[in-house]
Amino acid sequence: MNTTDLFDSLEDRHSKEQLSRVAELRDLLNHYSHCYHTLDAPAVADSQYDLLYSELQDIEKMFPELVTSDSPTQRIGAKPLDSFLSVKHAVPMLSINSDTTYKKEAARSFDTSVRKGLSLSEADPISYCAELKFDGLAINLRYENGLLVQAAARGDGESGEDVTQNIKTIKQIPLRLRNFTAEVLEVRGEVYIRRDHFEKYNQKQRELGLDPLMNPRNAAAGSLRQLDSKLAAARPLSFFAYGLGEARGWEVPRLHSQILDKLEAMSFPVCDIRSVVNDVDGLIAFYEDTLGRRKDLPFEIDGVVYKVNDRNLQEILGFVTRRPRWAFAHKFEPEEQQTIVLGIDIQVGRTGKLTPVAKLRSVLVGGVNVANATLHNEGETIRKDVRVGDTVIVRRAGDVIPEVVKVVLDSRPVDVGPVFNLYQTLAGKCPICGSAIAKEEDGADWRCTGGLLCPEQKKQAITHYCCRTAMDIEGLGDELVSILVGRDKIHSPASLYTLKEEDLVGLVMRHEARVRKDGTKTTKTVTIQKILASQILKGIDASKNRPLERLIFGLGIRQVGETASKDLASFFGSIEKLAAAKIETLYFVPDLGEITAKAIVAFFADKVNKAMVEDLLKYVNPSSPSYKLVKPLSLSDLIQKLQIEGMKSKTSVKARAIANLYDTPEKLLLDSARKTDFENEIAEVVKTLRSNPWNVVLDQLQAAGLKWGSEATERAEGFFSGKTVVITGSFTAMSRDEAKAKLIAAGAKVSSAVSAKTDYLIAGEGGGKKRIEAAELNIAVLDENAFEQNLLKG
Ligand code: IVH
Repeated sequence: MNTTDLFDSLEDRHSKEQLSRVAELRDLLNHYSHCYHTLDAPAVADSQYDLLYSELQDIEKMFPELVTSDSPTQRIGAKPLDSFLSVKHAVPMLSINSDTTYKKEAARSFDTSVRKGLSLSEADPISYCAELKFDGLAINLRYENGLLVQAAARGDGESGEDVTQNIKTIKQIPLRLRNFTAEVLEVRGEVYIRRDHFEKYNQKQRELGLDPLMNPRNAAAGSLRQLDSKLAAARPLSFFAYGLGEARGWEVPRLHSQILDKLEAMSFPVCDIRSVVNDVDGLIAFYEDTLGRRKDLPFEIDGVVYKVNDRNLQEILGFVTRRPRWAFAHKFEPEEQQTIVLGIDIQVGRTGKLTPVAKLRSVLVGGVNVANATLHNEGETIRKDVRVGDTVIVRRAGDVIPEVVKVVLDSRPVDVGPVFNLYQTLAGKCPICGSAIAKEEDGADWRCTGGLLCPEQKKQAITHYCCRTAMDIEGLGDELVSILVGRDKIHSPASLYTLKEEDLVGLVMRHEARVRKDGTKTTKTVTIQKILASQILKGIDASKNRPLERLIFGLGIRQVGETASKDLASFFGSIEKLAAAKIETLYFVPDLGEITAKAIVAFFADKVNKAMVEDLLKYVNPSSPSYKLVKPLSLSDLIQKLQIEGMKSKTSVKARAIANLYDTPEKLLLDSARKTDFENEIAEVVKTLRSNPWNVVLDQLQAAGLKWGSEATERAEGFFSGKTVVITGSFTAMSRDEAKAKLIAAGAKVSSAVSAKTDYLIAGEGGGKKRIEAAELNIAVLDENAFEQNLLKG
């Protein structure tokens, strides 16, 4: 029931004066709140507001039947929720196309495609509404008969979580629309946190000894995910409206810019940096102007949004792969910031790699608080001449680890630290386990030689084994693995399988700082309970039969990523065969490079690793590989790889000629007559094939079920079959893992880095660096659309 209806039914029990005072108080409080929170122009002193608020509260306390859901006193929900409900959006919440080249041309190509879609010439004027692209979370506010009834997060666009309780705590969001009673009006916009509010909040957290929030965007997301709206209310959330969802019983204005004006008049916060322009030059001017003022804005943005202003034209343009053709997000380049190097730490990676990391005076870069930035390796650090005390430029692009771009030499202090020297800094020892450190032959990296004996490598190796793309053991993230390793409950991946409930129950996960009502501090100890322990054990048990490629990937062999793991699983069919493989055998695994082959041999040659794998095989029984290699091997390939003098070159005519005489190595070895022009060469080949290691290699190849030459069955040719592709950015219709799986199923080889061997770069949203690399190498780039279309081609 809303205020008006309620008043009618209550009139006989309460005096007219009392009821009208309640109505008046709510109106006043809403008005003052709007002035304060949305217009940024307080109309009364805080004390005056508080006085009126308490008066309303007192009346409501005395007469609880007068309380309505839209009363200003009801912004904080009575009790915490158990969980969030999922709600289906009446109108899907779509995302918009964007471009990551950050160039002016992006606006031009949007304009061109709009003109094409509307059959307009270059000269025809076309009205666009240009807005900021706020870096927060999309929210749908549903008003029925003027009353806020539901607020939902975007979720997957089709449905999202019901976050009404938390949204109601945002004072800028009207709980009731004044003089507006349309049956349904859905207002869409972005929930975000202002920079100054973020800083102030964190300042307070620090003073209380509590963890500060990471960055405004995540903080906004985290706030909406609080089950207790009291906690959400404590977070300084703001809102900007930028569009509509469902609208019923209201004549929606024809122009988008008019919609924004109306929303503003209805007292929604609408950002006043917006502009209606009539051509592409107007869009570009808006982009550049906004770029210039980005740093001074009180909130984070990651670009601007262009929208065709006329809704009739929007309708004509429609959608392509669930994105409007009438809207475009023109993003900004990743942000760079200046800060000071407080120290240089050296981190130990999963494979022992020692990475220098600059400890920075923390700074917001593109909306994220950055306190560490990678220096990559010793060579890079020396090349950039980064020293403790230096002022540096740090850069953060997407979700990539922030990096130090360069030193601002003009700001170098006189007492700057010495030139970086990794060996000296560590006195030749791993900072974790004290093992000797060593530099690889012609490598840039120093490593800890401790292997799995180094606690840090051990932790990371186990965490990697458990990760989603490896053995996918839920609940075993780095935090818990660290604790278990620290308590000596686990010491290798195999030891996971001997974990018992009593090893887990009662383990302290963390200590959380809390503040009591009276302001005093306390800590809460979070321990593992029985339910969680049994879930973890179930997860560990379920991992025993994961496909072989996951197990291979989970071993964490250097250079062996997901793609190589798949190829190796498919080629060898078992860990035992892979572990026994001679380097020469590995050379026959299609697309496996020499460096990777060497890394595999070195891994299995290491005693500790060998024991670890043997141990593991007592517990796991991987299922068959889910992927089949498609490339056949030719006998001429084999002969060339034997490195016989005179038959070494890749195009060796002799090798091919011999291969033409015999299809398979078996036939060649069995032929005793050998009356050919190449008798001597064949004798040489046979001798080599019978020698060690080639006789072993031949057996291993045979065991791998390799098909030779003409016997080989090629897979049906599709667009991606046999092609090497690299994926970058994010996609709307699928996750990157899904994109990858689809490509592999279509016969493509998915590699992680762009190189001369790459046939296509498949680029979703983001991923600027790879695009540049592809452009430099003249490699075709497919966007999500083209990618999906070509997938359909087979
Ligand atoms: S309009 C169909 N306008 O950007 C168009 N979105 O990919 C729907 N965003 O997550 C969105 N500022 O939350 C629109 N001025 C703005 C925006 C904006 C930020 C976000 C939005 C969504 C993403 C779109």
